[in-house]
Amino acid sequence: MRPRRFAAAGPLKGRIRVPGDKSISHRSLMLSALAVGESRVTGLLEGEDVLSTAAAMRAMGADIQRTGEGEWLIHGVGVGALLQPEAALDMGNSGTSTRLLMGLVASHPITACFVGDASLSKRPMKRVTDPLSLMGAEFTTSPGERLPLMLRGAAPAVPIEYRLPVASAQVKSAVLLAGLNTPGITTVIEPVPTRDHSERMLKGFGAALTVETHVDGTRTIRIRGEAELQPQCIEVPGDPSSAAFFIVAALIVPGSELVIENVGLNATRAGLIDVLRQMGGDITEQNAREVGGEPVADLLVRHSVLKGIDVDPAIVPSMVDEFPVFFVAAALAEGRTTTTGLDELRVKESDRIAVMATALTAAGARVQETEDGLIIDGSGGEALRGGNNAAIATHLDHRIAMSMAVAGLVSAGGVEVDDTRPIATSFPAFEALLDGLVA
Ligand code: S3P
Repeated sequence: MRPRRFAAAGPLKGRIRVPGDKSISHRSLMLSALAVGESRVTGLLEGEDVLSTAAAMRAMGADIQRTGEGEWLIHGVGVGALLQPEAALDMGNSGTSTRLLMGLVASHPITACFVGDASLSKRPMKRVTDPLSLMGAEFTTSPGERLPLMLRGAAPAVPIEYRLPVASAQVKSAVLLAGLNTPGITTVIEPVPTRDHSERMLKGFGAALTVETHVDGTRTIRIRGEAELQPQCIEVPGDPSSAAFFIVAALIVPGSELVIENVGLNATRAGLIDVLRQMGGDITEQNAREVGGEPVADLLVRHSVLKGIDVDPAIVPSMVDEFPVFFVAAALAEGRTTTTGLDELRVKESDRIAVMATALTAAGARVQETEDGLIIDGSGGEALRGGNNAAIATHLDHRIAMSMAVAGLVSAGGVEVDDTRPIATSFPAFEALLDGLVA
């Protein structure tokens, strides 16, 4: 364990750049590893989760080399040509690696064993074993359809039409990636839109993929299998989910004025910014542009008096990873903030509803846990005053550690986080960036 106390240290001023997008980084390695020829990726997030994906793609035959900071060269094997890995694929803490790679393996004639850490081994996999079984893959799982599990891919796999029972980009992507090496057309019907990086990048690599949006917002995504992917040069935009910690910190620490450069603003990811603006957050986009086929801008964020809000559950998928730090913003707002429809948060790296309720309460916030969300009565900008000095339990969850670090910046006595090591899964430079700003 690596504990650390985060305490108030004055306004956040200056310019920072956040690391590459985690979702896009995973996908860029996977698709490059399936394209015949050399792909080049810049701005890749070099966090542990993405490195787990890189190691797994290497174990299945791709040549993946780091040539500089965030710069990677990948020689792919071709769709259908993944090799049998010789050892278990260690997914570490990464749900995205696990679920997307299960999709890839499901339509290849290989058998792979997936293992992960204590957090990942508690997370539900039935949501991917269900559709992938329909495509012909076979599974031997640990009780509760969890890791460790063994997957025997189907060759050939069977194309399916699958309606997503949960709003999950990982499940959608698993089925689409399995569809890449499945004869015919694989169809995913998505009643609630989730992040669309897989669709964008599959098209960019030359897969025949169409998206039809119906009047009620439902999306039908079709991919033609036995695809031939063309190698690409990809520039990964900055991760809005990493920027989120600094956006909230600058909004709630008095006197702050911070520019966060190169933030991806794909509409399927930008819900936090919309909600914070509705609460009165002063966030301005500068230098709007496109990076790697995704909208990007620099964000100027100034300290603001936030007002509590009822968060519309329809916005949840576009800020699903940002709730832990959003709860910190709500804890500093004037009045009550209510969130509902957050059931999915209970099956992330930790139960983020319960863990944040406990953590914020210990830090001195007024929080009530419900079945599917939190009700938070904000301090109206007053520093949090926790009655107990015990370390916050992060439960191997990077976003809990970083959110509570931000809470520490607005806490009278500081906040002790029990273990900062999980931060390296998504944002290895987080502490250095924060320390640099307040120095
Ligand atoms: C991700 C999808 C989301 C998100 C995760 C990354 C992805 O998970 O929470 O951090 O890259 O597809 P779900 O699909 O489970 O919502």
